[in-house]
Amino acid sequence: MKIGIVGAGMVGSAAAFSLVMRGVASRIVLVDLDDARARAEAEDIAHAIPFASPARIEAGGYGDLAGASIVILACGVGQKPGETRLQLLARNAEVFRVVVGEVRSASPDAILLVASNPVDIMTQVTLSISGLPAGRVIGSGTILDTARFRWLLSRHLGIAPKSVHGYVLGEHGDSEVLCWSGARAGTVPADSAAEQVGRPITNEVRQEIDDGVRRAAYRIIEGKGATWYGIGAGLSRIAAAIGGDEGAILTVSTVSDVLGVSDVACSLPRVVGANGVTQELLPDLSPAEAEGLEASAAMLKDQVGTLSL
Ligand code: LAC
Repeated sequence: MKIGIVGAGMVGSAAAFSLVMRGVASRIVLVDLDDARARAEAEDIAHAIPFASPARIEAGGYGDLAGASIVILACGVGQKPGETRLQLLARNAEVFRVVVGEVRSASPDAILLVASNPVDIMTQVTLSISGLPAGRVIGSGTILDTARFRWLLSRHLGIAPKSVHGYVLGEHGDSEVLCWSGARAGTVPADSAAEQVGRPITNEVRQEIDDGVRRAAYRIIEGKGATWYGIGAGLSRIAAAIGGDEGAILTVSTVSDVLGVSDVACSLPRVVGANGVTQELLPDLSPAEAEGLEASAAMLKDQVGTLSL
């Protein structure tokens, strides 16, 4: 499977590296305004290929995206310390107005996978510019937040992350909702599992995990200027679900009606396969979780309203 990545910065390059190490793509093309950076990233990542499955990775221009099954959009500016993701909107919407047109011309059949923040609104911007059906424009959404939630809960319980299940829904950002009511260890509700393993989920633990998810990016950006490994792996996971026609349930962002808010991009559990997003599953939510999700969707809808889409 050929995958294009526009933006050879830390996120795009981390995604390329993860795609190589997971053996998801047989061919990767990195496109960046800074061609020297794209070439250097491609050459560096190519040296990992002998340790992974056979693949080719090269830098190129938009024309080299022809035939890609997926094009990842990881271009634009990232958060500076203390900056919210929403504050990137105006700058990245400008970048996308050029990039999406170029990508669509070069690779009209590709599924577009949006990583640039604010990712939910950038997903809606991409859908509007591209004219593609909703399911073929996917934002990474809260796939990373869900991973953070699962990892922190698994650490508290002393149970493997792959056996701990739970969702973060809504905005990939400050208004996101951790759905504690649906959290499980295996098929056991998290609260019950926690009591059984002698590690109860107290209000303090719950707050600690919420902060660990919701403030993760701010903390990491303070320390190293940006995040890239987690999101790179999340993008690679979505691409694998598409490439393998898995029908995997992932909390990704695309435009749909969310509770009482119509036509808004935010994350719900969605079925991802060869044709992109094919189904959406609304989980059982507590009244507070449903209220939080609706408020998150409404906030995003208001933000989109400030753009002339
Ligand atoms: C983060 C960036 C990808 O949450 O928004 O790390």
